[in-house]
Amino acid sequence: FRRLGLRGMKQRLLVVANRLPVSANRRGEDQWSLEISAGGLVSALLGVKDVDAKWIGWAGVNVPDEVGQRALTRALAEKRCIPVFLDEEIVHQYYNGYCNNILWPLFHYLGLPQEDRLATTRNFESQFNAYKRANQMFADVVYQHYQEGDVIWCHDYHLMFLPKCLKDHDINMKVGWFLHTPFPSSEIYRTLPSRSELLRSVLCADLVGFHTYDYARHFVSACTRILGLEGTPEGVEDQGRLTRVAAFPIGIDSERFKRALELPAVKRHISELTQRFAGRKVMLGVDRLDMIKGIPQKILAFEKFLEENHEWNDKVVLLQIAVPTRTDVPEYQKLTSQVHEIVGRINGRFGTLTAVPIHHLDRSLDFHALCALYAVTDVALVTSLRDGMNLVSYEYVACQGSKKGVLILSEFAGAAQSLGAGAILVNPWNITEVADSIKHALTMSSDEREKRHRHNYAHVTTHTAQDWAETFVCELNETVAEAQLRIRQ
Ligand code: G6P
Repeated sequence: FRRLGLRGMKQRLLVVANRLPVSANRRGEDQWSLEISAGGLVSALLGVKDVDAKWIGWAGVNVPDEVGQRALTRALAEKRCIPVFLDEEIVHQYYNGYCNNILWPLFHYLGLPQEDRLATTRNFESQFNAYKRANQMFADVVYQHYQEGDVIWCHDYHLMFLPKCLKDHDINMKVGWFLHTPFPSSEIYRTLPSRSELLRSVLCADLVGFHTYDYARHFVSACTRILGLEGTPEGVEDQGRLTRVAAFPIGIDSERFKRALELPAVKRHISELTQRFAGRKVMLGVDRLDMIKGIPQKILAFEKFLEENHEWNDKVVLLQIAVPTRTDVPEYQKLTSQVHEIVGRINGRFGTLTAVPIHHLDRSLDFHALCALYAVTDVALVTSLRDGMNLVSYEYVACQGSKKGVLILSEFAGAAQSLGAGAILVNPWNITEVADSIKHALTMSSDEREKRHRHNYAHVTTHTAQDWAETFVCELNETVAEAQLRIRQ
């Protein structure tokens, strides 16, 4: 495998994802500033080094004029990024609508939108058409940059229609598709009106990857039950053509976090935070402000803990970083108000003249501040209702070398399958159980903390983003080589 690995390889990799790893902000007619985008996919792929890769995606901004488009294309080229320009209408229908109002909740077991069934059905069709149009726009940009032999790696639920567009254009393209969310049970998936068309398109890829074995199994079941195809241990077979389906659990670049902890700027942050919270235990939540992250449930569990453990009032604080996301989608707007209301109520109820129990920030932090927070906090609370993997849990562990803080982790996050032995696993819907786990974490003996941390640290530092990408691309190369061999025989 290493021989075929990505390090120093000649083969070019085209990574295609809805969002580029940088978001653009306009500073003048032809001036752009770029900043790192949020989310697990970006954080994992930034950990893949030494690869001749280019990234094709949307820069998160509407650029109607040619001057702006040319300037942004130039600025992005320096970061090895190639933009796909999507206008406001398509962003509304494809990104806010089909991706984030339909596929995202469905894949996280929250079901299809229900408020107005008729309107939803009508919207559904126009949104699905916009989804296909947008996928075709990504494909057009791929064609412009493709050279024979390139590996094309499509990412996530935004681009399920892309494998079909690419193979229709050139059947010899090497195409992989990877899903960063859960793939739900086929009983949930089958409610999706466009279920068959999307499955058939994904099956055009040569290799289909998921974070866990369970997601891969759900996908194969959906193909057998909905399309009537044959599932094999290798994947899904359709009239003699095999699409390989497998699990490739993602990781992070743990060295990047370890190195950051040695930087003077991070050490300064650490000592400021240590002084600021002296005498109190600090619990940390870092999430995009998304309904799948279970933020209201987490805060209610913290309230229950305070209610039942008066001796901890004033001695513990919950720092919740809630990174704003998809702010044009009404569900996300409702969630923001709901969280603010709960935080305000609890701070009013348990706060004193000198301290409040919850510090809630509606913003992202820069990398250095984030590393410092990971390093100084005693407990991390990752209580997603569903989550493809959740790399915040990995990042926390990577920064806890000296403190050996405790990770409380939802059993519904993909990460529970790798960090389950070291973390305290919880059902995030069970507020009493989470409250009890908070107490367990805060009062845990140092021996137990050390043992749990050792397990997680070993995993996080040996299953890296680099390994993940290498394994996927090698497997894709091998799958294509085997298929060609079969054809020749
Ligand atoms: C998740 C998805 C990514 C997405 C990220 C941020 O991690 O799997 O594909 O980029 O959320 O969401 P956004 O809508 O801001 O790109």
